[in-house]
Amino acid sequence: MVSSAGSALTWELVDGVAVVTFDLKGEPVNKLSQVVKQDMLATFEALGHDASVKAVAFFSGKPDSFIAGADIEEFVKLTTAAEAERLSAEGQEMLDRVARFSKPIAVGIHGACLGGGLEFALACGYRVASDHPKTQIGLPEVQLGILPGAGGCQRLPRLIGARAALDMILAGKVERAAKAFRVGIVDELVHPAILQDVTVAAAQRLAGGWRPRRRRPGSLVGALLDGNPLGRRLVYRAARKQVLARTRGNYPAPLAALEAVAHGLEHGMTEGLKREAQLFGQLAVTDVSRKLVQIFFATTALKKDFGIPNPPPPAVVKRLGVVGAGFMGSGIAGTAIAQAGVDVRMKDADLPRVAKGLAAAREILDDRLRRRHITKYEHTRLIALLSGDASYTGFGRAELVIEAVFEELDVKRQVLREIETAARPDTVFASNTSTIPIHLIAEGAKRPELVIGMHFFSPVARMPLLEVIPSARTAPPAVTTAVAFGRRMGKTAIVVKDSPGFWINRILTPYMNEAGHLLVEGVAIEEIDRLMVEFGFPVGPITLLDEVGLDVGEKVVGVMHDAFGERFAPVAAFAGMVKSGRLGRKAGKGFYTYAGGKKGSVDPAVYELIGSQPNGGPRPAEIIQRLLFVTLNEAARAVGEGIVRTPRDGDIGAIFGFGFPPFRGGPLRHADDLGAARIVGELERLAERYGPRFAPCDVLRDHAQRNAKFYP
Ligand code: 3HC
Repeated sequence: MVSSAGSALTWELVDGVAVVTFDLKGEPVNKLSQVVKQDMLATFEALGHDASVKAVAFFSGKPDSFIAGADIEEFVKLTTAAEAERLSAEGQEMLDRVARFSKPIAVGIHGACLGGGLEFALACGYRVASDHPKTQIGLPEVQLGILPGAGGCQRLPRLIGARAALDMILAGKVERAAKAFRVGIVDELVHPAILQDVTVAAAQRLAGGWRPRRRRPGSLVGALLDGNPLGRRLVYRAARKQVLARTRGNYPAPLAALEAVAHGLEHGMTEGLKREAQLFGQLAVTDVSRKLVQIFFATTALKKDFGIPNPPPPAVVKRLGVVGAGFMGSGIAGTAIAQAGVDVRMKDADLPRVAKGLAAAREILDDRLRRRHITKYEHTRLIALLSGDASYTGFGRAELVIEAVFEELDVKRQVLREIETAARPDTVFASNTSTIPIHLIAEGAKRPELVIGMHFFSPVARMPLLEVIPSARTAPPAVTTAVAFGRRMGKTAIVVKDSPGFWINRILTPYMNEAGHLLVEGVAIEEIDRLMVEFGFPVGPITLLDEVGLDVGEKVVGVMHDAFGERFAPVAAFAGMVKSGRLGRKAGKGFYTYAGGKKGSVDPAVYELIGSQPNGGPRPAEIIQRLLFVTLNEAARAVGEGIVRTPRDGDIGAIFGFGFPPFRGGPLRHADDLGAARIVGELERLAERYGPRFAPCDVLRDHAQRNAKFYP
């Protein structure tokens, strides 16, 4: 074994092949820092001079990760674009040396191979990857507001073609190894057990003069597009259009990445690298990138945070009981199987309902098969984990039961009573309520310490957030069990206070209600949605209401109104919609029409039900301000009440729960950016004009007075 003192790289000679292992000691993942770069250069220098080394086989020493990319902490410390450009150029130089290394290099990839990690692999001659779910390959840089700045914008399109490369780079996609193999990034896909042997053998073949023959997958037309400047111009134009439709110009990184790719393909590698480094430098110091990096670190921190001090170990959930086989129940059941691989037992009032729920849960697994996220074999195995009945048979073995029945306190209490008889004495009972306080559900329970809230968002399979809500009587192990299981389901979990609407519905309700007020005042439906999409939300509030369901919305507002009074008063505009059965997407009609699952246009008849006709209403800036400030005000008030434990949880919740624009960092960071004094001033003006629902809360007043912030 050879290594210099303190080096993260060690190597040993096996039949003329230097088997190099990269293992950054004391770190959970391998990352490419300045120090590692020097280390790499020194190691390759030594390998180059050693005549007994004919080829290199490169591996990670970490059990489940290859290289997670450049060290993010390092580049966020940079303050000028020039410094960041230099960092990028140094990374490019190092990988250029790897690419021009005098001896062939094969890499064996197992685990996350992301960003700079993939850029390193691309600089090597041959890539073998393990066919394992942990092996994730991609260039996620744009998700951090930057671009692949160590040659990725140049090497990937040269390897797999402009279209396929742009498809990955511009969306920051991370793919499984099988997909990376299909598109031609990976040369060989093998079982993890033989990764090392196959990679070493490839290195040996390369040393013997063998050169892999690569054929790009895809059609002739595709090849023609990628293969000449005119065709590529069409590709760039289409990519640009797509990016703008998705980002609305709010995220500069994908367009910059497009420019780096195009510049390199049209002017050659050297010019391309230069442009790539320049653009990397500019992006790395933008506010957008800072915000996105903060989100990355906040999400990472939440992976380890159980939301309570001294968290006890969670129960190991092997069987989950789900009561209520409707849309939410089946979503929870299907996602639990797909992500956590647990045995799931569903229960509803009668067998037809159970059958419908089972079919819907199964659809989640079918979808994974269709997308090739799981194999046929895995699909069959997972389907076998799903069962159901109209009685509680099988619930006696569940460590966790989640109820997703009708949002009615009495119904939920009844289910809890039944579970306390049917399940084990230590089974945790979680309610998927969106508004009802958990202590009310637990009232009269035999074991209130095991009752908790797990609020999932719809559709469960896709929405990344989970609110976990302990009541004052919930015991710590129930909290850790709920959080840990939510995480196994792939969710980011925030632990929030037991109060009506918890965090998300608390701040979402005023936002939706304000949209209703604006409708009544004559703003057109599409105009409200368009403005908020431009502001950065994935969909506008009216579309969101259609998605959530107007009946659900009405229920939520009712609970909030009862709890918090007049500022949550329901808007009359919505009641007529519910009465006439225009409940939103699920009913095939809401504010918009829906046919074959596709959103259509606004039905003008809706304005009759609202009781107003579009007449322009307030100015666009005023519309955005009203929707935004009413939300920020409620968010600040809820923070003051301790609804979320930290501003971090509140911001991540709003971003993952209802799509608050990530580039603005969340409502609380955005409030800090605007400044409390300005928000208070505007709220006072709005209150004078539109009523006391805009009256600034104490927290904002206090911040304004002391010039304080949520993130000091
Ligand atoms: N830089 C710095 N720290 C990183 C890191 C990186 N690229 N990737 C992961 N980490 C840290 C995390 O912050 C966390 O630190 P902590 O334990 O001190 O809190 C630790 O490694 C473990 O991370 P996770 O808890 O997230 O572990 P998981 O196993 O759940 O996930 C992962 C591993 C899939 C690698 C995930 O961490 C991830 O997605 N990382 C970021 C990947 C990325 O965005 N790479 C691109 C970086 S930018 C770049 O490469 C620029 C280049 O083009 C020049």
